[in-house]
Amino acid sequence: MSGSGKSLLGVWLYRRGESWAVKEGSPLHKSRDVCCRDDIPESENNPTSGNKNSVIFSLKNQVGGLARALQVFQDLGINVVHIESRKSLRRGSEYDIMVDVECDSKRMEQLMKMLSREVAAINLAHYEQIGSIPRAPSLSTATSFDFSEVDMPWFPRKISDLDRAQKVLMYGSELDADHPGFKDTVYRKRREEFADIAYNYRHGQPIPRVQYTPDEIRTWGTVFRELHHLYQKYACKEYLENWPKLVKYCGYREDNIPQLQDINVFLKRTTGFQLRPVAGYLTPRDFLSGLAFRVFHCTQYIRHSSDPFYTPEPDCCHELLGHMPLLANPSFAQFSQELGLASLGASDEDIDKLATLYFFTVEFGLCKQDGMLRVYGAGLLSSVAELRHAVTTPEKTMRFEPDVTCKQECIITAFQNAYYYTDSIEEAKEKMRAFANQIQRPFGIRYNPYTQSVEVLTDAQKITAVVTELRGDLCIVSNALKKIHEQDDTVDVERITSLLTHGIDLPQDSGNSSSDSDDSPNAEETRPREDQQLRHDDEDAINVKN
Ligand SMILES: [Fe+2]
Repeated sequence: MSGSGKSLLGVWLYRRGESWAVKEGSPLHKSRDVCCRDDIPESENNPTSGNKNSVIFSLKNQVGGLARALQVFQDLGINVVHIESRKSLRRGSEYDIMVDVECDSKRMEQLMKMLSREVAAINLAHYEQIGSIPRAPSLSTATSFDFSEVDMPWFPRKISDLDRAQKVLMYGSELDADHPGFKDTVYRKRREEFADIAYNYRHGQPIPRVQYTPDEIRTWGTVFRELHHLYQKYACKEYLENWPKLVKYCGYREDNIPQLQDINVFLKRTTGFQLRPVAGYLTPRDFLSGLAFRVFHCTQYIRHSSDPFYTPEPDCCHELLGHMPLLANPSFAQFSQELGLASLGASDEDIDKLATLYFFTVEFGLCKQDGMLRVYGAGLLSSVAELRHAVTTPEKTMRFEPDVTCKQECIITAFQNAYYYTDSIEEAKEKMRAFANQIQRPFGIRYNPYTQSVEVLTDAQKITAVVTELRGDLCIVSNALKKIHEQDDTVDVERITSLLTHGIDLPQDSGNSSSDSDDSPNAEETRPREDQQLRHDDEDAINVKN
């Protein structure tokens, strides 16, 4: 594997063509996420009546067990529609795999025969008896909202529901053959330890501390040192503002890998965000639903030491160096949460679009600051090679327009074909809000920070209750503004009032792709368009100068 460094893409939100998938070549690459689980009981109880069935099996304790098991499905031409793994309740140290398939009863029989040769145990009855599969509650039984008329995916309603939204498509110890650590048994064993932490984690628990090895700390230090040199030049100011706090409160140092629990405490104090350890590939739907509750799913393991500047998957270098500084920024935290809220109950198609927009903003986004484009995307801020690439290929940098950007292909194994920028993070947030409003949902969703739950707004009564609550806050703001204005008549009351009535107050020139209203001296130069490439003299910038 080249040490030049490929992009690392964080949460595995990427897609090929029109559908999200795990990396091509993976035994899981045909799977797709199906979050509404209400059809399972019927298909399990009557496997001959329909095309949907579920199989649960335990893996043999050997390398490549999952790949061999899934190969059976492929050999039989059986369509896998959902797969998830979880800690086995039967044997403490093992995992079970649950696979939902579409096939007739005859092929189901063949599947059971062939699969039994490849796995340790196949057991449906056990789960039916103990009811251990945490299925989503029936939407029609929800007390505060009548879903009976709505065909909609299940989504978490309170923060503890995230324990049931952990659909991992591939757990951290199962590595692809081209993974740098594939042949390293010590590394693989280590990855199992990290996977165990994530699988055993439940909401409200402290995140277990990890004693990182000297080898792991060395790898971290190599990445840390190289990236740190680039941040002053390329990172956005929101990122740089929070860096010293992470050093002070969370132990960000070249010779120390910060602990998730320390960052968790810090973030809760600054923006209310929390971290949750995750074992590996998480479905876009589950990842985004975590954001709705200000929960960021975070890997804890580190890339293989043989290639410090390359990882085919998110690792702690990516999460801690790329994401954390921005999650400590209130505006960015809100932006992330709003993306998550927009995803709750959304269709698969809309989830794809939101995940793509997340990808090209939170992972690979840029924004304009002081006449230059600065980076806020974690995928760039944690990849030496792609950061350098992005800032030296202005012809690839385009204005962020959600309707257009959501169609852009997300690339996992190479640099992106395009990067997107806005005039500010606020502008990205505002555009995302407008996009989210287009999502077809017959209700609104509001996060209640006091109960850490989402309120589904389905009728005027519920909306009135929210307005009443908000009115209390508005009275506080109004009184404070009045008092301050009495002491200082230069306070721009009109502008602040317009924030309330018209939303975010963007600069005159932002929020649209026209630069006509921008009278700054270098307005044209700082306004790249798809047909107007960013100009640059050297690596110093996406700095736009003649
Ligand atoms: Fe990420």
